[in-house]
Amino acid sequence: MAHRVHCFNPGPAQLPLPVLEEVQAELLDYKGTGMSVMELSHRAPEYAAIQAEAQKDFKELLGLGDNWHILFLPGGSSTQFFHLPYNVLNGNGKADYVNTGSWSKNAIKEAKRFGDIHVAHSAENAEGQFLYIPTQDQLNMRKDAKYLHITTNNTIAGTQWETFPQPPNGVWLVADMCSDLFWRKFDFERFGMFYASAQKNMGPSGVTVVAIRDEFLSLCSDDVPTMVSYKTQASKDSLYNTAPTFAIYVVGKVLKWLKGLGGLDAMEKLNRKKANLLYRALDSKPDYWVTSVRKDSRSTMNVVWRIRNDENLEKKFIGEAKAAGLIGLKGHRSVGGIRASIYNAVSMEGVEKLVNVMETFAKANP
Ligand SMILES: Cc1ncc(COP(=O)(O)O)c(C=O)c1O
Repeated sequence: MAHRVHCFNPGPAQLPLPVLEEVQAELLDYKGTGMSVMELSHRAPEYAAIQAEAQKDFKELLGLGDNWHILFLPGGSSTQFFHLPYNVLNGNGKADYVNTGSWSKNAIKEAKRFGDIHVAHSAENAEGQFLYIPTQDQLNMRKDAKYLHITTNNTIAGTQWETFPQPPNGVWLVADMCSDLFWRKFDFERFGMFYASAQKNMGPSGVTVVAIRDEFLSLCSDDVPTMVSYKTQASKDSLYNTAPTFAIYVVGKVLKWLKGLGGLDAMEKLNRKKANLLYRALDSKPDYWVTSVRKDSRSTMNVVWRIRNDENLEKKFIGEAKAAGLIGLKGHRSVGGIRASIYNAVSMEGVEKLVNVMETFAKANP
């Protein structure tokens, strides 16, 4: 049995063990081809079947119809920060963005190169912190924008939209869902597009899934470089050039694992249980485990806190947790503190162990 830790990394993150085991079993000879998936041509029928199955499962799990295209693109979510406005605004269109954290800021910065960008709300305080998700009433949106962009889960700040905003009629909602896609079901009725790199809830790094609706695709310019063009990528089914085949194959396996567990309703139940357990432990000693995020904005995926605002104590905690087999708990370098990323593949047992380690630590270091 391999040595495995409980991995609370923000991404790349823990993958389901059954998925890794299947990958291991198929690594040298994928279904009698005598080749690894890494060696298969991206034009081979065996690969075509892998990609088609992953697209089918992606749509099925999220309840997306035939009017949606599922693209598998390289370059990470950060690349979508410019692909999106390049395709849709291309120099003169308008788009509104909500600034709820570092990743939103990056998206806004890139979008400003391609169009008229308006920040519908910024949740950043004077200290540069992002401690809440705005309400619908707080958004100052333009009726003639092509889209309203949100970051559904703020991986660094530890905040998450529980209910998505309603843009004005005729304005599409677009989201960076990098760190919370597949944690539960969502209503995509108002969405034109959403994107997520795989390395949190979906698979390994190296591929980003862009889901784009027909009507939103038709807003895209034809006058963009080929590899950046959503229209080209959709018409060539993401195979204009060599796709990141191995990463897509693993994503397909993760989606099958999700379906096998009972789909997104079962996943949501488990994720809420894990997050509740951890937040309850934090709230039981509020002067010790210091949480600053407003309670109604707390993330179920990335739980962030400080230990009495004491960096030395935090370092000690991270060291002791690591010794107990709990990895990846250091907060993002821009905010410090502790962060537990409890994505889909992190087990209840992992969170229980974390809470036990926290209780022991608090007693020993009052
Ligand atoms: C919400 C969010 N958006 C975008 C990114 C950037 O993703 P990538 O590293 O795939 O470019 C991250 C990375 O952690 C993220 O958490």
